[in-house]
Amino acid sequence: MIQVSGLTWRNIQRIGLFDSGVGGLSVLRSLVSRLDHSAEKEFVYIGDTLRCPYGDRPDKQVNSYVKQLTSWLLQHNIDAIVMACNTSAAAGKDELVAYSPVPVLDLLDPTAAFITQRGIKKVGVIATAATAKKKAFTSTIKSIDPGVHVTEVGCPLLVPIVEGGKADSEEAQEALRPYVQQLIENEVEAIVYGCTHYPFLDSALKTVLQQLSYPALIIDPADCLATAISGKSVSTLHWQTDSFSSTKFATTGDGETFARVASRCLKQNIGPVASVSMSELADSFVIRKLQKPAALPTPIQLASEAVS
Ligand code: DGL
Repeated sequence: MIQVSGLTWRNIQRIGLFDSGVGGLSVLRSLVSRLDHSAEKEFVYIGDTLRCPYGDRPDKQVNSYVKQLTSWLLQHNIDAIVMACNTSAAAGKDELVAYSPVPVLDLLDPTAAFITQRGIKKVGVIATAATAKKKAFTSTIKSIDPGVHVTEVGCPLLVPIVEGGKADSEEAQEALRPYVQQLIENEVEAIVYGCTHYPFLDSALKTVLQQLSYPALIIDPADCLATAISGKSVSTLHWQTDSFSSTKFATTGDGETFARVASRCLKQNIGPVASVSMSELADSFVIRKLQKPAALPTPIQLASEAVS
């Protein structure tokens, strides 16, 4: 079991997660799958659907969105933050660690640990264009074992399919096929979901692999993180009808649309989803800055950072 800056899984009570949209729900469900009962922990989830996708945006912009989302989560008394968005971890995990007063977790490190411990030597990663361009998984894996061969492929077509509620469609299979073919050409033993949206494409990916007669181990980084922090591994993800009753859901987009797509992803109806406006997010960021004891920025600096 990994320790989170002195905290253990047992004494993390309230966890905040963010993503550009519904993708981070794959991380939420992996964490929930480790609970014996739903009241054991509370979760606060925010999806920045209005500004999704993040995968084609510059780092500076992603980092500033992430600080706003984190500031909003911090107003909900969380004990730890999970970057349930690999694009944001690739863009600036260190920056968020420096910004956040609570421990920050990401999926890159536990995934790299899992791959190297399993002795996998040829791995394929499907990820957003930004994550793949930066070779975020490649460098994290190679920092542990330089001998692992990593093929990282940017897949810009996939996030809109998941956000559009079409994860189980033929369109999803068509979109996946050329990406998978690139991995097959590199003879990968395992395929990593390098974007948190992609575990929802699991049945489409399995169909494509079957059609191409290519067996490969599929690795969900959300599962690697959940196992690493809870010390519990599960053979299949399982959750109850009330598993998400201790989760507060929010989106910067339309609450009803988010609830519909999220319910489809989680295979059950989730409760109401709060809509968070851009001005509420920007205010959280300003409040957070004002709460910090460090040298206060000028009102002009605050205003320009809040809108950037
Ligand atoms: N789900 C996110 C990730 O893991 C972001 C996807 C996007 O917005 O492009 O990278």
